[in-house]
Amino acid sequence: MLVPKSTAGAALPLLLSSVSTLCAAQPNAQTGDQTILSNEIQRISNQSLLWGPYNPGLYFGMRPRIPKSLNIGLIWGNLDDFQTAQSSFRHTCEQRDNMKGYGWVEYDPRSGGKQVIHDQGNKLDIQIDLVKVPGGKNGGSWGARVKGTVRPSVLETVRTSAIFYASLEDGTLVLENEPDKLGLLGSVNLKGNAPGLDDFHIEVTEGPETNSPPMEIDTRMEGLENEHSIKRSLYKVGAYPAQHIWRVKNILFMDLKARFDKLMSHFGEPGKLPPPWHALTVPPVYGEGNLHYVQKVFEGDFEFDILFSSDSASKPITSDVVTEGIKENEDSFGARFDSIFKRHAPFNTAEYGKFARDLFSNLLGGIGFFHGDYLVDRSQYPEDEEEFWEAAKANREMDLGQLEGPSTLFTSVPSRPFFPRGFLWDEGFHLLPVIEWDVDLAMDIVKSWYNLMDDDGWIAREQILGDEARNKVPKEFQTQYPHYANPPTLVLVLTKFIEKWVNHTSHEHPSIQGDISQILSQISGLDSGNDGIRSAILGAAEPYLRNIYPLLRRQYFWFRETQAGEVRAYDRKAFSTKEAYRWRGRAPGYCLTSGIDDYPRAEPPHPGELHVDLISWMGFSARLIKNIAIALGEMDDAREYGRHEEAILRNIDDLHWNAEHGCYCDATVDSFEESVHVCHVGYVSIFPFLLGLVPHDSDKLGSILSIVGDEEQLWSPFGLRSLSRQDEFYSKGENYWRGPIWVNMNYLAILRLREYGSVKGPHQKTAARLYKELRKNVVNNVFKNWKETGFAWEQYEQETGKAKGVQHFLGWTSLVVNIMSLPETVEITPTPGKAHDEL
Ligand SMILES: *[C@@H]1O[C@H](CO)[C@@H](O)[C@H](O)[C@H]1NC(C)=O
Ligand SMILES: *[C@@H]1O[C@H](CO)[C@@H](O)[C@H](O)[C@H]1NC(C)=O
Repeated sequence: MLVPKSTAGAALPLLLSSVSTLCAAQPNAQTGDQTILSNEIQRISNQSLLWGPYNPGLYFGMRPRIPKSLNIGLIWGNLDDFQTAQSSFRHTCEQRDNMKGYGWVEYDPRSGGKQVIHDQGNKLDIQIDLVKVPGGKNGGSWGARVKGTVRPSVLETVRTSAIFYASLEDGTLVLENEPDKLGLLGSVNLKGNAPGLDDFHIEVTEGPETNSPPMEIDTRMEGLENEHSIKRSLYKVGAYPAQHIWRVKNILFMDLKARFDKLMSHFGEPGKLPPPWHALTVPPVYGEGNLHYVQKVFEGDFEFDILFSSDSASKPITSDVVTEGIKENEDSFGARFDSIFKRHAPFNTAEYGKFARDLFSNLLGGIGFFHGDYLVDRSQYPEDEEEFWEAAKANREMDLGQLEGPSTLFTSVPSRPFFPRGFLWDEGFHLLPVIEWDVDLAMDIVKSWYNLMDDDGWIAREQILGDEARNKVPKEFQTQYPHYANPPTLVLVLTKFIEKWVNHTSHEHPSIQGDISQILSQISGLDSGNDGIRSAILGAAEPYLRNIYPLLRRQYFWFRETQAGEVRAYDRKAFSTKEAYRWRGRAPGYCLTSGIDDYPRAEPPHPGELHVDLISWMGFSARLIKNIAIALGEMDDAREYGRHEEAILRNIDDLHWNAEHGCYCDATVDSFEESVHVCHVGYVSIFPFLLGLVPHDSDKLGSILSIVGDEEQLWSPFGLRSLSRQDEFYSKGENYWRGPIWVNMNYLAILRLREYGSVKGPHQKTAARLYKELRKNVVNNVFKNWKETGFAWEQYEQETGKAKGVQHFLGWTSLVVNIMSLPETVEITPTPGKAHDEL
């Protein structure tokens, strides 16, 4: 029994069998030339992703996807007075910087974009335009135009210091200008060589003539005879231990402090010092080292370019090329965005267009490249005795984590200021908008995550790679435990990918004709506007899936083994004695590993617990792997996963359905060793529904929909609450997942309502009505808060809709972009089982 009974998601396996026939019938369908071509397109696609603002925890931090390579960044601060100078310096994104909003207003990793930073504390708006130019064999060149503009209402004179820096761990980087103790006139030019980049040049331009430095003091003053000139670019190079060069701001502060102390020892008291815009500048230092920076001082508005040229490109990038590129990016981004995310009523207005572009650009602008070692505690923590969490807690306090690695990860992040690192639970949701825009990019990120898997099949849920990343995480959360799981959300993306592949193979594609060398020379000129390089992977989906498939299986079996729950020991009646699951890592009041931290569960935790959300993830995974097995022609495997899937679906009902509450419940064991349900109505109790595991004709659907639509339970004018208003824990304690509205779960609910609303059945009308309302409510509330605060947020308060939690949360909250491009109302499909599959 391969195809499960008519669940809403049943259309896919049918289509898939046509793919598998296709693969089987034409194993060598590609000619040699086409293989060369396909490889070449993939190479170009990969090259165009080499550079990016891949240190998203910084306001502006460029790096290539190469470990220990160049890091280029920007620091700025206000030098109007000594008291406030130190706290005014900006580098890493911080909530305390009290920005009036910041982020990318348009951005595409292939071509660049525009970031705007409203730095009200420094009376300045900073705009950074990034332009990427393909060419050569080392990932091309790029330029960044940095523009500072005094904020509109500011009347006083504003002096700003902007510091460009470049550090390089592995390679050489040297100054080309003639050293000058006054500072450098004109552009500052660096040249370097590094693995993967080969030879390159960096130029920091002087900028237009409208730049003006503050008035210079009289350097004939006694004690200032050997002064540098703040009209010039002040260059300094230093050599630092490799593991410390990311601490650029601390290094800069040390230099500024040394300078300040020296002036103080000469002038005696702050009142006699030269003004701060002079005193707080670093005298030039020439020589060799791994950290180079250039300090510039401006009065009023300013502008300069950072130009990175790969020497393998036919010509270096110039400021004129940047000017043109900015214009091109502005024209092409909006047009492509509107064609990919076609917004439907009531969101088809310009206002929502800006909102959608802003959120999506920031999701892409959060993509980063990370490399480094990480802490793992590989002690054994059996969780099969009562009060198992006590031992785990005691050990955690002993801090038994050991460094392992290094490993490398390409990923987006939930929030640049707060969570600038990879989270497994979030990533699958992040990539659902990304895959619509750029399939290659999304699937490259998926591959990067699966490559982190250890031999057992475990992927750490939080990826804290290297000192720079650890620096942002409290010590007690740094260590990862290899028996702890996290929702395997990447299965959502793989499901979407297969859907795209099925669609791709079922459409005609013009076969490529003509002379291969001619075609190759044409595509090497492909620019980022070309969609071919964003979907090259769809032409090579089979090898991609063959690579991922064993990893996916390994992870799936790791879950089955390490997160298994007990059926027989407690005499539970179920179709299968095997398919029952329990998150490890519980503690009283918490189940952090489930991703929905404080959602109420059995208290106290018990080794006999079973969790609805986890068995649902397992059912969804079994279905996905079965579908991939079918597509790859692995029919024995497909049968095995088909059996798992069926047993899981049966057990979801047998072990978790509670007729009295009309929803699914966790289970635990009471003091008489009897299995009992633990019912807290909320996201967990509708999880099988959220993941599309409830058949559209199930007799359970009616009561699930009535919980969803009930204002005294989950329904609110702002989206579905995480916990029912009637639950005893509603809004209690930390109140993280005990009421507040989360966009990722609402997104799943919207997709499901659309599916159930489109298939004939007793609940079709209800689902269709809830779909239309929920879609509108969720988007409108995120929009309203964005308009009021300038930010997207982690969660929204369930009674007022007000933004809560982490600010600048452009991870899964950005799913509203996908929601806006769903139709306003459900389209009715005539035959059951042909529901539109969104996931
Ligand atoms: C993509 O580029 C990166 C960085 O140069 C390189 O390490 C990687 O091997 C490339 N991947 C492929 C599939 O070519
Ligand atoms: C299917 O593919 C066609 C042609 O490539 C495209 O126009 C269409 O939008 C795709 N449909 C979906 C649902 O992805």
